[in-house]
Amino acid sequence: MCNAKNKLEGKVAIITGGASGIGETTARLFADHGARMIVIADIQDELGRQVATSIGVGKCHYVHCDVTNECQVKALVDSTVQNYGQLDIMFSNAGILSSSDQTVLDLDFSAFDRLFAINVRGMAACVKHAARVMVEGGVRGSIVCTASVAGSCGGKRRTDYHMSKHAVIGLVRSASVQLGVHGIRVNCVSPHGLATPLTCHAYGMPADEVEKLFEPQTPLEGVVLRAGHVADAVLFLACRDSEFVTGHDLVVDGGSPTAKQPIFYSRHIETSDTDTIDLSCDSNAPSAHGSEGSKSNRLTSAQSILNEVGRRTGTCQALQYTSLVAGSKNKVPNMCGHEMMSFGSRKNHLNL
Ligand SMILES: NC(=O)c1ccc[n+]([C@@H]2O[C@H](COP(=O)([O-])OP(=O)(O)OC[C@H]3O[C@@H](n4cnc5c(N)ncnc54)[C@H](O)[C@@H]3O)[C@@H](O)[C@H]2O)c1
Repeated sequence: MCNAKNKLEGKVAIITGGASGIGETTARLFADHGARMIVIADIQDELGRQVATSIGVGKCHYVHCDVTNECQVKALVDSTVQNYGQLDIMFSNAGILSSSDQTVLDLDFSAFDRLFAINVRGMAACVKHAARVMVEGGVRGSIVCTASVAGSCGGKRRTDYHMSKHAVIGLVRSASVQLGVHGIRVNCVSPHGLATPLTCHAYGMPADEVEKLFEPQTPLEGVVLRAGHVADAVLFLACRDSEFVTGHDLVVDGGSPTAKQPIFYSRHIETSDTDTIDLSCDSNAPSAHGSEGSKSNRLTSAQSILNEVGRRTGTCQALQYTSLVAGSKNKVPNMCGHEMMSFGSRKNHLNL
C-alpha cells in the first residue's frame, strides 16, 4: 500500500475535462496526493487556466486540447512527456451529455456523431496516445476513463449517451487485455448521476436541486454523491493501491437500482442441502409488495425473498452471488455471511 497521504508522489498525470466537475476535483485530489505535475486538458481555456493557477504554478498546467482532434491529443501527450519526463497517469474524463432527450425513434445523427466524437473517439485517442508513450518509456502506467452507470444499462432516453458509455467500457476491457503485457493498467469509473456543470446545465437546475433529483435513486442513505467520491475512486485506480486491478469498471453508485433490471433473472441459488430455489422475480412486475417504482417496494420485495431463502435453507451458499451485498437495514441472515455496504447493481450482484 502507498503512503496514505502521498499516493501519487512524483507522478505525472494528464486529466482531460479537467477544467470542471469531476476532472477539476480529481486534479485537486491528485495535487493533494503529491503528484509532481498535473496537466489539465480542456477546451474551456479561461476556466482551465484558473483551475491550474489555483492548484499551483509548477504543480499544475493547463493545455488547450479538444479530444475530438487526434493531433491535439498526441501533441498534449508528447508535450507532457517532453516537459515533465514521462506520463504515469492518464485520466481520460472529458465527456458531454446528449443534446436532447431522444429515444431511438428520433435519433439525430449529427448530434450522435458529435457526442461519439467526444465520448468515444476522444476517449480512445487519449488511451491510444497515453499507452504509446507509456510503452515507449517503459512506464507501468495507469489509465483511467470515465464511463457511467449508463454504460451498463439501457435508458428510457438519451440513447446516444448510453451507447457511448457502453463503448467506453468496451474500450477499457480491450485495452486492459492488450496493454497488460506492458504492465499498463486500464480501468474506468462509472458514477451515478451527480451535480456538476454538465448535469446542472442539462437539467437547468442549481446543484442542490440536481442532487435532490438523484438522491432518491440510490438505496444508500445519508450520503449524496459528489465529485469528491468519484475522485476518490479515480485516485484508487491511479495509484498503487490498485496494483493488481485492471479491466475493471468501478461503479460509484451507492448501490443504485438504475439499471432497472429484474431483481433476479430466473437464476438459482444453490443451497447447502443441494436444494435449489428459483428466485424468479421482476422488479418491474406488479407484486404483492407493489409495482414498479419505489425503492422501498423493491427493497421490501427483495428482503422478503431473501428472508424466504433463509427460512427454507437455514444456511445457503449463494454461489452465483459471491459479491452479494446487503445493507445493514436489509441485512439477510443466513445469506453466506456476506455483509457489505449496500445492494449492488452490477452484473453478478443482486440487482434491485
Ligand atoms: N455528472 C454526472 O452525473 C456524470 C455521471 C456519470 C458520468 N459522467 C461523466 O463524467 C465525465 C465528466 O463530466 P462532469 O460531470 O464532470 O461534467 P463537466 O461538464 O463539469 O466536465 C466535463 C469537462 O469536459 C470538457 N470537454 C467537453 N468536451 C471536450 C472536448 N471535446 N475536449 C476536451 N474537453 C472537453 C468540458 O469543457 C468540461 O470541462 C464525463 O465523461 C461524463 O460523461 C458524469
